Amino acid sequence: MRQVVRNVKIIGTGSYVPETVYTNKYLETIIPTSDEWIVANLGIRERHIAAPNQTTSDLATEAGLRAVEDAGLSVDDIELLIVATATADRKAPSTAAIVQDKMKAYRAAAFDISAVCSGFLFAMSVGSQYIASGVYHNVLIIGADTFSRIVDWTRRDAVFFGDGAGAAVLSAANVTEGFLAYRLYTDSSNKKYGFTVPAGGSEIPLTPEVLNQRLQYFQMDGRAVFDSATQVLPQAIHQVLDDTGLTIDDIDLMIPHQPSIKILKKTAEIIGLPFEKVMTNMDKYANTSGGTIPILLDEVKREGRIGHGDKVLFAAVGSGWTYGAAIIKWE
Ligand SMILES: CC(C)(COP(=O)(O)OP(=O)(O)OC[C@H]1O[C@@H](n2cnc3c(N)ncnc32)[C@H](O)[C@@H]1OP(=O)(O)O)[C@@H](O)C(=O)NCCC(=O)NCCS
Repeated sequence: MRQVVRNVKIIGTGSYVPETVYTNKYLETIIPTSDEWIVANLGIRERHIAAPNQTTSDLATEAGLRAVEDAGLSVDDIELLIVATATADRKAPSTAAIVQDKMKAYRAAAFDISAVCSGFLFAMSVGSQYIASGVYHNVLIIGADTFSRIVDWTRRDAVFFGDGAGAAVLSAANVTEGFLAYRLYTDSSNKKYGFTVPAGGSEIPLTPEVLNQRLQYFQMDGRAVFDSATQVLPQAIHQVLDDTGLTIDDIDLMIPHQPSIKILKKTAEIIGLPFEKVMTNMDKYANTSGGTIPILLDEVKREGRIGHGDKVLFAAVGSGWTYGAAIIKWE
């Protein structure tokens, strides 16, 4: 039995987005929308879309391999592999099991986490517990989604999402570095699903009639998402600041989920964080759901924007509602 309760840090990151790009201008030609409205309200200019033969596990595998390489490890060093996704390849087996085979990471136990846009944050917290408790030493967490498969490309809300995957390798840290706090929340009261994919599960199995009603595609109440996000993100952030005894002025960088520029600006205003400290890349990728935080983390790290000792704040909100925040002290 290994020693229990250790600190946990991120020792490698990787990301992957598919090649095909749909610009706002292109979307103007297929649905009633406008580049101007999308940029002003959502901050999105383009998004990457998976090729017809590419699945969520393909994107996840590429991101996962890059993270393992960045960590200086081999796939055999990975003892646990968690995939956070809302667009699994299949109902069974889990996407993590498929990724295990594609990565040849056969030593790793593998399972999926379903928390939609908060999925990576949930995976980060769950994976960390196995390291903190001494059960595993190296855990690979991947956030990957292909929302293009649940988008109705005849509707104007097709503009919100893109496909992509990001990954991080978690490992044991010394006591002065690593995660300082995590908080996860779920509030499903009153069954008000502001974002849902009604059909394809046990409640509404797929039938020709269901397909005709287009219930296999996502449905979103944009106003409800905005109102909920700007309420719960600050709440979760205040809690992790409280847990660590830090103030918002101690935060060097925020790496949030990427729902819309307006949500992030409003959140930054409420918590009192200058917007220059809030990292964004939704202009290039839109909302990749489980992929947003790890893709952004990988980019920000590669651009050299995270320094030794920086306190980095993560925060996410997704369907459920699921939400949460975490703070890490970067090594
Ligand atoms: C999407 C959002 C900007 C819309 O705000 P809103 O004022 O509630 O939007 P409405 O749907 O009432 O639309 C208002 C006007 O905006 C314009 N509009 C809305 N969606 C549009 C789109 N996709 N393209 C172009 N214009 C659009 C239209 O002019 C619309 O007026 P109309 O309904 O008379 O045509 C806001 O709700 C939001 O940011 N929500 C967050 C959604 C999100 O982040 N989802 C991802 C995570 S699940």
